[in-house]
Amino acid sequence: MSKKIAIIGTGYVGLTSGVCLASLGHKVICVDKDKDKIDKLKKGEIPIYEPGLAELLQKYSANLTFTDDLPDAVKQSEVIFLAVGTPSQDDGSVDLSFFQQAVAEIAQNMDGYRILVDKSTVPPGTANWVKKEVKKYYQGEFAVVSNPEFLREGSAIEDFLKPDRVVIGVDDEKAKDVMLDIYSAIDAPKFATTAQSAELIKYAANSFLAMKISFINEIANICEKTGSDVVEVAKGIGLDSRIGSQFLQAGVGFGGSCFSKDVAGLIHTALSNNYQPRILGAVMTVNEAQQEIFVDKIKAVLARNQGKVVGVWGLAFKPNTDDTRYSPAIAVIKKLLKEGYQVKAYDPVAQDNAKTELGEAIDYCKSAQEAAIDVDVLALLTDWPEFLEVDWAELKKIMRSPSIIDGRNFLPTGDLAKNGFHYQSIGHKFF
Ligand code: UDX
Repeated sequence: MSKKIAIIGTGYVGLTSGVCLASLGHKVICVDKDKDKIDKLKKGEIPIYEPGLAELLQKYSANLTFTDDLPDAVKQSEVIFLAVGTPSQDDGSVDLSFFQQAVAEIAQNMDGYRILVDKSTVPPGTANWVKKEVKKYYQGEFAVVSNPEFLREGSAIEDFLKPDRVVIGVDDEKAKDVMLDIYSAIDAPKFATTAQSAELIKYAANSFLAMKISFINEIANICEKTGSDVVEVAKGIGLDSRIGSQFLQAGVGFGGSCFSKDVAGLIHTALSNNYQPRILGAVMTVNEAQQEIFVDKIKAVLARNQGKVVGVWGLAFKPNTDDTRYSPAIAVIKKLLKEGYQVKAYDPVAQDNAKTELGEAIDYCKSAQEAAIDVDVLALLTDWPEFLEVDWAELKKIMRSPSIIDGRNFLPTGDLAKNGFHYQSIGHKFF
């Protein structure tokens, strides 16, 4: 049955959730304090790079409203999703100020039964805090649900509409039924549990995926010592259904605004509950070391060919997004600049975002080829499919030295070998 839903916050999670819920037939009001953003959204302009989102918004615009008027949205809605940003703080704790502010504003405008749904990634115990906070302003009946989101940037719509599961953390049957109704058109298991467990499921899921990546990166580093091939090793262990083949792509490390933040958040949650986590710390240490190891590979090539100019393919933290937050590419480039090397880079969509972090310290190129002209080594840092379409023979002619270091074990080694390139990777092939 169609529900009246408000979504507070129109970032990746909020906007994707809003548009997808509208595509399921619900009446959705998307709320954001940023008036410019709302004005753009009213014109169908999407403030983030996410494949298919603009089209889906267009298609279901009859079910969508965009406003910066939170009180009115609360009055018109039965269910209110909180999808505001919860950024990381230096000590790994989560900055809940936007979240807390939104909860207070919602509570001050409730004039009847409402369900508040935590969609933002928040530490365990937050749903209980929301309950107490609402009661300061509203004495009527309401419920609080934890409903973490597992979508990935670049495949957000697919991940929202075809998830592996929908997690519903609630201890109220009435609210649980409403949530099951909201997601009834989604063909996936609905995992109902307590709010505290749902909140930890989000952290644990992201930390496990990050751990899997750091594990295969550790294995890749061992492969380089034993002459094994991590791509083969990943295949071999991935065939064990208890391990699974996904998220075993070794490389220069994970990035993005979620993994680092959530591992740090979980470490902080553990420490503030007097438990000393061990594995989680190593997940981050291995990840940071992976960028150091990659820079050392570049420096070794440049020492051999007395070069100074590094060409970089990819700035985004992964393909299909313009997001450079915690991008390994940015981290590697900053280290190279610190060492006095010259960098020229190309990314199909993330250059503007990269400029906010790197400024004019590097040359931004219009094509993959331009980023290879007269370089002493070429480093692949984001596995964009277009880098597979390159004419390798032509490329070799424009580079000062035909040396490529593949930070994603992504490039066609057969073609590169045939064309006489020097190739290095992460625990994979070397020639
Ligand atoms: C992640 C989670 O996947 C998602 O469920 C959650 O909701 C938000 O955080 P996202 O950050 O968009 O999603 O990216 P993801 O596709 O998970 O990739 C994260 C990083 O890991 C990227 O830098 C990617 O390049 C890297 N990665 C991924 C690897 O290095 N190896 C892999 O095998 C997979």
